[in-house]
Amino acid sequence: MIELTDLRVRLSGTTLVDGISLSVRPDGWLAIVGPNGAGKTTTLRAVARLLPFTGSVRVAGQDTRRMRRRELARVVAYVPQQPHFPADMTVIDYALLGRTPHLALLQGPSAADREICATVLARLGLGAYTERRLATLSGGERQRLVLARALAQQAPVLLLDEPTSALDLGRRIDALELVDELRVERGLTVVTVVHDLTLAGQFADTLALLHEGRLAAVGSPAHVLRVEVLSDVYDASVHVVDEGGHLVVTSRRWGSWATEEIG
Ligand SMILES: Nc1ncnc2c1ncn2[C@@H]1O[C@H](COP(=O)(O)OP(=O)(O)O)[C@@H](O)[C@H]1O
Ligand SMILES: [Mg+2]
Repeated sequence: MIELTDLRVRLSGTTLVDGISLSVRPDGWLAIVGPNGAGKTTTLRAVARLLPFTGSVRVAGQDTRRMRRRELARVVAYVPQQPHFPADMTVIDYALLGRTPHLALLQGPSAADREICATVLARLGLGAYTERRLATLSGGERQRLVLARALAQQAPVLLLDEPTSALDLGRRIDALELVDELRVERGLTVVTVVHDLTLAGQFADTLALLHEGRLAAVGSPAHVLRVEVLSDVYDASVHVVDEGGHLVVTSRRWGSWATEEIG
């Protein structure tokens, strides 16, 4: 469904993404992981065709560079890391922005468009908030709203840049479970940038570990979430625990293990 071939992004004379090739199958979930500044956001933005790149990005077999912006928006929904929230806009109007690529020219949203948005808002626990102004929402509510807008877009490819960073433990799982349900139900292709490696391993079938703009490792969670792979890239004291098939990744203060072993 998504195919990147030798993707490169150079901005202001710096190479930010340096030859990434990978593919995500339809109804697959790829998590892009890696330290700060690795090029995760840049990669996602290139897939959404929001910045210039070389190499190719194919979505559903089509070269994205040959698609019209509106056509691309019907196929790819993108949630940025720091979305813009007009303070005075209402929740329902914000969600309706997701319907824009489906509206005929100069035509406002129909009852069906409102229904789609209302359903998604309800599924994300925002059903009672439709007339609230964005300025009155908490960080977690905003993050769920931006996900609602992307889901209302009903594109087969969902690109999410750290979609759950502001959510508490429960809401985080709820939001990702919803994405997973829709992935199975509608055969969505999902690409998420996630900081939490444990969370990435629980939801994605494939992890792509970026480091300095390059692909340091790619494969199943079991393949990527290994101490010898992660320690090099994160420059941290990484620990991986297998909890009945779920890999839990933690980091500790340097030296704390030695103390334990002595003690
Ligand atoms: N327009 C730009 N010009 C130059 N450098 C940039 C630009 N945008 C981002 N960068 C740099 O590129 C690197 C990768 O950024 P980004 O993809 O946002 O990383 P992350 O993996 O944290 O999402 C960072 O060091 C960032 O400062
Ligand atoms: Mg980022």
